[in-house]
Amino acid sequence: MSSISSDQAQGSGGPIPLNQVCYRSLNLKGTAFEKEPWSMAAYESMGGYSTWRKILSEKTEPHKIIDELKASGLRGRGGAGFPTGLKWSFIPRNAPGEKYVVCNSDEGEPGTCKDRDILRFNPHQLVEGLLIACYTMGAERAYNYIRGEFAEPIARFNHAIQEARAAGLMGRNIQNSGIHAEVFTHVGAGAYICGEETALLNSLEGKKGQPRFKPPFPANHGLYGKPTNVNNTETYASVPVILEKGAKWFADLGIPNNGGTKIFCVTGDVEKPGNFELPLGTPFTKILEMAGGVREGRKIKAVIPGGSSCKILTGDEMLALTMDYDSLGKAGSMLGSGAIIVIDETRSMVEVLSRLLDFYEEESCGQCSPCREGSGWIAGIVRKILKGEGTLEDIDNTVDLARKVEGHTICVFGEAFAWPTYSYIGKFRSEFEALVKKPHQKAKKSEKSEKSETIKA
Ligand SMILES: Cc1cc2nc3c(=O)[nH]c(=O)nc-3n(C[C@H](O)[C@H](O)[C@H](O)COP(=O)(O)O)c2cc1C
Ligand code: SF4
Repeated sequence: MSSISSDQAQGSGGPIPLNQVCYRSLNLKGTAFEKEPWSMAAYESMGGYSTWRKILSEKTEPHKIIDELKASGLRGRGGAGFPTGLKWSFIPRNAPGEKYVVCNSDEGEPGTCKDRDILRFNPHQLVEGLLIACYTMGAERAYNYIRGEFAEPIARFNHAIQEARAAGLMGRNIQNSGIHAEVFTHVGAGAYICGEETALLNSLEGKKGQPRFKPPFPANHGLYGKPTNVNNTETYASVPVILEKGAKWFADLGIPNNGGTKIFCVTGDVEKPGNFELPLGTPFTKILEMAGGVREGRKIKAVIPGGSSCKILTGDEMLALTMDYDSLGKAGSMLGSGAIIVIDETRSMVEVLSRLLDFYEEESCGQCSPCREGSGWIAGIVRKILKGEGTLEDIDNTVDLARKVEGHTICVFGEAFAWPTYSYIGKFRSEFEALVKKPHQKAKKSEKSEKSETIKA
């Protein structure tokens, strides 16, 4: 899947600013850089590396960069939405010893396919974001942990590093500034759990990719036990544009408390799946329209609004919402990674949940019992319901098990399958009941006859 260009951003209420931040290189259509928007020349033609060059010559005070990020309202784009400026301020930049900057390009959340397109179409912006992050937090090395299957994105990112190095924009004592900063690629091996930041750090250290207990948090005890900042690809790649155009410019793109843009990955039952970088606060209906509407003119039944771990919302709920942190939070779900999966009226929600649970059962790292055992038990029961072999009690047990997993695991992978489980059953219980009705009625009948026999006896 590839991103779309700006001339396709026509909603029914007029044009919506598209591809203003991380995908801005896609607006080079009709210029000399159209064919290779990922090149350094293309990036510099848009003002790329101007912030980094300014930092190298002026040695901007790091706290000013952090203040600008705070004012921009940028929040982590990897899922949790934690304020980025605040996160950067947690790194004890003047403490002695190494500090690290780590970028999360693992992108394993089902439905999410945005970071690979930043690496493919605008890799220099990520390189610049990582160099700025190193300088601001007192680190000399940034590692980009990229999902192993991303052949083309990895090649493009590596090429960007080579170009930046050849241009003298990274290394030791860059342009005699006294600043040292380098960016490296680390290729992962394709485990979903390695997207969780502490599992990622273990994997980067060459250990088993399993999450660590928090606290201590990576800001104090991260890679090799040193202060480490972990952010998502889209988060770091937003930084150069924010510093170049100003916090206000970025904040004003979105709505209050939801500054800037977000890349929405629209998949599922739509006519034209794709990535759309749009202002936060864009109505869901506009995004659906840009994705060509529901497949074959069908009715929308449900939407996973921010990646497979989110609680599901009904189609009617979604049609009334804007896509931002606050609106989705109030509706009982979350913006997450921005992966919107549209589900049409022909789908069985039992089947959708079953498919997701198979994934989570497979991907549990196995460290804690509620997750290792719970993911298997819940997936097994839902498979049984799907086959028409379940009972009403099975439905209740599934919800009960999910509630018991939630909050009782080392990392939020537990919530990642508990939330879909009880929200799908909560919103679409009649579909689960329809599948167990017959066996349940039989069970009731035999219970009844047992009772009457007992009474007779
Ligand atoms: C099971 C699991 C998988 C995750 N996968 C990713 C991922 O692929 N990419 C990502 O950026 N964050 C992922 N996260 C979130 C990270 O732990 C972390 O919060 C994020 O990288 C921080 O960056 P941000 O503040 O820029 O969002 C995952 C979390 C969990 C629990
Ligand atoms: S919740 Fe699951 S994935 Fe996370 S540490 Fe425990 S077993 Fe591993």
